[in-house]
Amino acid sequence: MLAASAQSQSADDPLSGLVVGDHADPEVPKGWTTVRVRAAALNHHDVWSLRGVGLPADRLPMVLGCDAAGVTDDGEEVIVHAVIASPGWTGDETLDPRRSLLSEVHDGTLAEVVAVPKGNLVLKPEGLSFEHAACLPTAWLTAYRMLFTNAGVRPGDTVLVQGAAGGVATAAVQLGSAAGVRMWVTSREAAKGEQAVALGADRAFGSGERLPERVDAVLETVGAATWSHSINSLRPGGTVVISGATSGDNPDKAELTKVFFKQLRVIGSTMGSRTELESLARFVVTSGIEPVVDSTMPLADARDGFARMVEGQVAGKVVFTV
Ligand SMILES: NC(=O)c1ccc[n+]([C@@H]2O[C@H](COP(=O)([O-])OP(=O)(O)OC[C@H]3O[C@@H](n4cnc5c(N)ncnc54)[C@H](OP(=O)(O)O)[C@@H]3O)[C@@H](O)[C@H]2O)c1
Repeated sequence: MLAASAQSQSADDPLSGLVVGDHADPEVPKGWTTVRVRAAALNHHDVWSLRGVGLPADRLPMVLGCDAAGVTDDGEEVIVHAVIASPGWTGDETLDPRRSLLSEVHDGTLAEVVAVPKGNLVLKPEGLSFEHAACLPTAWLTAYRMLFTNAGVRPGDTVLVQGAAGGVATAAVQLGSAAGVRMWVTSREAAKGEQAVALGADRAFGSGERLPERVDAVLETVGAATWSHSINSLRPGGTVVISGATSGDNPDKAELTKVFFKQLRVIGSTMGSRTELESLARFVVTSGIEPVVDSTMPLADARDGFARMVEGQVAGKVVFTV
């Protein structure tokens, strides 16, 4: 089958280990099934894997990809939940200490066929295209859990999203504004901030700019570069939810004094559960949200999509059609 896989890793030249070509069909363990992929989407996770972060070299070659929507052997249209819990685990899969994401232990979604546990399939709602459905399982699910589960915001609250153009950030802006939350964003580039406003953000600020008032919650994925600003932007008792650290995880200041004196809540967040993915898919359809797609291309051209992400050109999701 056609697949995009990591054959080797390089911290400085991640594209050097990417192969888009013929690959063996995935193994199908007991209790698993196969999905014929119709659309798959790219995440920063796939680039980290090519750089040698989070994917041990002894697991190569590995088909990349966490996100997919497709069709089962029975003809059901499904979205694939990428969090693979260990056998026998019940409840929230993200709390299983032995969980993995597709493409970490088992071959991923950037392929004609992906194998997944039967319990990881979510029916794709009618009215949601395969391309939009494929955007949901990683970046969108992460944003959904950050906003509605972990920040616990209500309509009328104000939420700051650091780094306006990322996959998680654009999803958070679209979800939050559809739910009546006042969404503010920061960006290093005015054009990216304006794009977030076009998506529903209430206001855009420069990276590190002082805000006109303090916010109820901050969604943090940038990490070291924006951490102090996130802490300083919160009202007393506010919540920062962190799910990534693109600029590094070692900020100049941990801001511990402000954390305790302002009684802030610092909450880590990773992906989301299968039930949250179901709720997210329903919310996207009922609210009429269309996930922002940066570019769509055939899987055979996946290298172009990876290059866009490595070069930092991506705004929204890169989608591969199969
Ligand atoms: N925990 C999870 O489950 C989970 C799930 C998905 C993603 N993640 C992680 O979350 C992070 C975000 O991923 P993503 O794909 O949404 O977006 P991304 O491409 O990693 O970029 C996010 C934003 O970070 C900002 N940024 C990057 N470097 C910066 C720097 N040096 N200084 C200031 N801002 C900087 C950029 O914003 P501007 O250019 O607008 O300033 C960019 O749009 C990644 O680290 C990813 O691994 C985690």
